[in-house]
Parts: sequence; C-alpha cells; structure tokens
Amino acid sequence: MIILGIESSCDETAAALVTADRQVLAHRLLGQEAAHAPFGGVVPEIAARAHVEALEPLIVAALADAGLKLADVDAIAATAGPGLIGGVMVGLVTGKALAHAAGKPLIAVNHLEGHALSPRLSDPDLAFPYLLLLVSGGHCQLLLVEGVGAYRRLATTIDDAAGEAFDKTAKILGLGFPGGPAVERAAALGNPKAVPLPRPLKGSAEPHFSFAGLKSAVARVVGDYPPEDIAASFQAAVVDCLIDRTTRALNGLTVTPTALVVAGGVAANGAVRGALQTLAATRGLRFVAPPLWLCTDNAAMIAWAGAERFAAGLTDPLDTAARPRWPLDPAAEAVRGAGVKA
Ligand code: KG4
Ligand code: ZN
Repeated sequence: MIILGIESSCDETAAALVTADRQVLAHRLLGQEAAHAPFGGVVPEIAARAHVEALEPLIVAALADAGLKLADVDAIAATAGPGLIGGVMVGLVTGKALAHAAGKPLIAVNHLEGHALSPRLSDPDLAFPYLLLLVSGGHCQLLLVEGVGAYRRLATTIDDAAGEAFDKTAKILGLGFPGGPAVERAAALGNPKAVPLPRPLKGSAEPHFSFAGLKSAVARVVGDYPPEDIAASFQAAVVDCLIDRTTRALNGLTVTPTALVVAGGVAANGAVRGALQTLAATRGLRFVAPPLWLCTDNAAMIAWAGAERFAAGLTDPLDTAARPRWPLDPAAEAVRGAGVKA
C-alpha cells in the first residue's frame, strides 16, 4: 500500500511517498526561508503563493524519484489543518483534485497528528500508549498518544510555543531566521549560567507551558551580555521548563507509557533531546526521537499518518474543509491566555 503525502501548512512545501510497511519511497521538500527572511517571520500571503508555485512540481518529482505514476498510489493524504489557512487550502485542494482525478481515497490529516505519529514511522517497535512532547513553531503540548485518532492533551502553552520563543530570541539577538538552529549554534559558544533568566510556570501546580515571559526577559538583557551567553542561557531555561513540565506529566499518568517521545521542529535541538533522553533513562523509559529530517515539517509524516488512518479505515469526503485551528484532543479544556493555537 502506497500513500502520497502533501504538506503545506506553514513555510515548507512538501510531497512524499510512503508505504504501509514504513518505506519512504520519496520525500521532496522546498523551504521558503529566503522569501520570509526579510520579514523575520513567516508572511502568510507570501507562503500561500509560494506553495501554489512549488507543490505540483514537487509531487511530480517525488513520483519520478519513486518510479511511480499517480495510478500506482493507493490513497492521497493532505494536511487539512491546523496552520496558515491559505497554505493549507493549497495543499488540501491539490490533494482533493488528485484524488478525484485518479479515483483514489482522500485522507485529511491533522498536521499535529503527522508529528504525533511520525516516531512510529522511524521506530517500528513504538507501541501505544506513549507520552509525547510535541514542540514546534506553532505548538508546545504534552499528549498521551493512546492510538490512531486517540490523543489526550495533558498540557499546552498558555502563550508562545517553544519554537516561537526560539525564533523571537533569534530575532532579538539578530541571529537570523529561522531562529531555532541559529540560537542552538550560538548557544554552543556561550555559557548557559551567565544570564539569569526566568523559568515560567516551573514547579507550577497547573500542567501547562509558558514562554512569553522568557522572551521578554531576553529582550531586557540584550546588550548587557554577549549574545552567545544569552542564547545559551535562554536554551537552558527552555530545556528546564520542558523537563519540569514533562516530569509533572509523567508523575500524573495513570497508565504506564511504552516510551517518552519527542517530535516537532524543536526536537531537532540537541540540548532538548539530550535532556529528555536523560529524563527517560532516570524513569526507566525508552526514549524515542525521530531523525532530524522527520522532526521538522515534511510530507513523509503526513503520508505516514495517512497510512495509519487508511489502515484503520478512515478516509474523508472531497468536501472536507481546511481548518486554521484543529485541536488534536477535542475534549481538551481551553486554557487561559491569548494566541493559543490549539
Ligand atoms: O515542526 P516545525 O518544522 O514547524 C511547525 O509545525 O511549527 O517546527 C519549526 C520550529 C521553528 O520554530 C524552529 O525555530 C524550530 O522548530 N527549530 C528549532 C531547531 N530546529 C528547528 N528550535 C531549536 N533548535 C533547533 N535546532
Ligand atoms: Zn509542524
């Protein structure tokens, strides 16, 4: 069984072909960093136009890489949200058109489900339930992944996502865009204890994350310390918060997870991965993190989520709507704070 995956919810246009037995036959990706760099962040209108231009050639190239025709594909999985709505619509409409033209089923994938199930693509032994820390540019959540389509949200951010904090810190320090990798490189040259920075919600009885205060604190000390020391101290503060909140979630679980898992763009960060690995070891848990290319946005994770849903008999009608917001756990309570994306 072969699934074509399409991703266009943020600033990466991507197409991939993945089989139900975990072979990635092709995966193509075109980033838009250069187009957004002058603005220091993703501009939705520019992103949507870039997806329109890039997507079809990427699908054609992915099929050619795999030596396949559209007729060889068993189903088409496209991200249907959450994300920047113009971009999501480009990918979803393309998926619908291909599904209709080729007479194949459509699978509308939640982008967060793509991240949440991606560790099962790289690790065939990863069984449900697992505790997932999903840390990306748009999201920072702890989820108990109980099965395909069964996600319990244990915590989310009340303001900024962790990746957003990395991106804003990079902007404040003048390190460029995208910020996460730039902050990590600068941090490698700095002293993580040099700058006193807050750890918002660390030790709090509520389960959630908060990063807005940390970002503001960075803005207040800029110029007082070498940027490398600020970057290193910022990264250490983020790691502290992630570990504290993840530990709290582990302590509150009523089931024993098979593993501690991290996914999403910030999972590419070495300090974050290292600290989570240590936490897992102290709790006697397996630690699973997808390879770096599978952590940041890509279409293989969308194809894989499509394969998991298809195997469970889940397909979607061609009038499925694109959704700018789409919580993975519909039962999760709304949290205080504004600007929360899911
Ligand atoms: O999952 P992703 O590619 O897109 C979203 O769905 O948001 O995550 C992108 C985020 C960006 O905020 C980026 O700065 C961050 O992941 N990121 C990193 C690193 N690589 C990417 N953050 C910290 N360290 C990194 N090495
Ligand atoms: Zn993502």
